[in-house]
Amino acid sequence: MNLPACTETLFRRQGAPAPRLALAPMQDVTDLACWCLLHRYGGPDVFFTEYFRVYATSVPDPETAAAVVENPTGRPVVAQMIGNDIPALVRTARQLQALPVAGIDLNLGCPAPVVYRKCAGGGLLRELPRVDAILAALREAVHVKLSVKTRVGFDSPARFEELLAVLARHRLDLVTVHGRTVTDGYRSPVRYDLVAQAARHLSCPVLANGNVYSAEHALEVLGQTGAHGLMIGRGAIRNPWIFAQIRQAQRGEPPWRPRGRDVQAYLHALLEATGRPGLNEASHVQRVKKHLNFIGLGIEASGRFLATARRARTREELEGLFAEWLDHDDPMPLEPLPVPLGERDVLAGVHR
Ligand SMILES: Cc1cc2nc3c(=O)[nH]c(=O)nc-3n(C[C@H](O)[C@H](O)[C@H](O)COP(=O)(O)O)c2cc1C
Repeated sequence: MNLPACTETLFRRQGAPAPRLALAPMQDVTDLACWCLLHRYGGPDVFFTEYFRVYATSVPDPETAAAVVENPTGRPVVAQMIGNDIPALVRTARQLQALPVAGIDLNLGCPAPVVYRKCAGGGLLRELPRVDAILAALREAVHVKLSVKTRVGFDSPARFEELLAVLARHRLDLVTVHGRTVTDGYRSPVRYDLVAQAARHLSCPVLANGNVYSAEHALEVLGQTGAHGLMIGRGAIRNPWIFAQIRQAQRGEPPWRPRGRDVQAYLHALLEATGRPGLNEASHVQRVKKHLNFIGLGIEASGRFLATARRARTREELEGLFAEWLDHDDPMPLEPLPVPLGERDVLAGVHR
């Protein structure tokens, strides 16, 4: 199986390009179209798939598996699994590692109640002996890289040290730490001090995750945590240039600033990328809105862009909205603005 040449170095603490930059997995957002789109703007060093749900009778989601096989970016992909059934996780890991994946990742962070109540995703952080047993079985079965993406605890970080001790036992190749607990959701401050603790304690590379919103902030987070790289989700959807900007900042160059029309062109490219034959207009617009939830926070502060985007039903309405706000040459920082948000705007949240 041919994997990109950079694959091996991504998982080394020494001698690897620093920092390693990963696109965070985001269900219903970071699909193959999204990977290809972000790659055009510089893109991350590695992609993580949306999670494969794993249970006794599961089969790997065909669309996500196809993304791994078709990935034309030349950048490696890590396949993420979510579940707690050890034989099913082992079986699925074997199926996934037959695909061109650089590694297999276990989700220990999903905060959706429907997931954590079944003791999967973030729910597993309440059962560390079970995490230990899952990782032991996966380490034995997985011959590609094995990684974990975790939060810092279920409802408090009190057992974080214990979690790190479990992770340290299993020769993991990479650990990503989202510096929030499961019950914190997506909007609380991020505990970069705990990411730093993980980077000190573990012998594999650690990626810092949570709220990285600009190149400048990325360098601060790297400095503050001592992490070996960053995983970025919402910040990359809002600002697809962010990976290129971080690389520029790392070289001491001023990060390139997009202008209104550059962002407008990105949104048009997003409309193109997310459409596919047979997808009706309403579904297509719904799909685009999942991205606009994040992008809208970087456009303007009153919330009108976001509110109008959420009401849109047609592509024409969206295009009109993009022209109204973005047909100009002023620089766009694309950092999250304090847009007024409602109770249900958990995912759009002001994340800085
Ligand atoms: C819409 C959405 C979907 C997500 N789906 C996943 C997922 O499938 N697997 C996972 O590990 N994390 C998932 N996450 C969490 C992100 O990977 C990431 O940890 C979180 O958004 C914090 O990083 P950010 O501030 O850079 O976005 C999701 C987050 C959002 C907002």
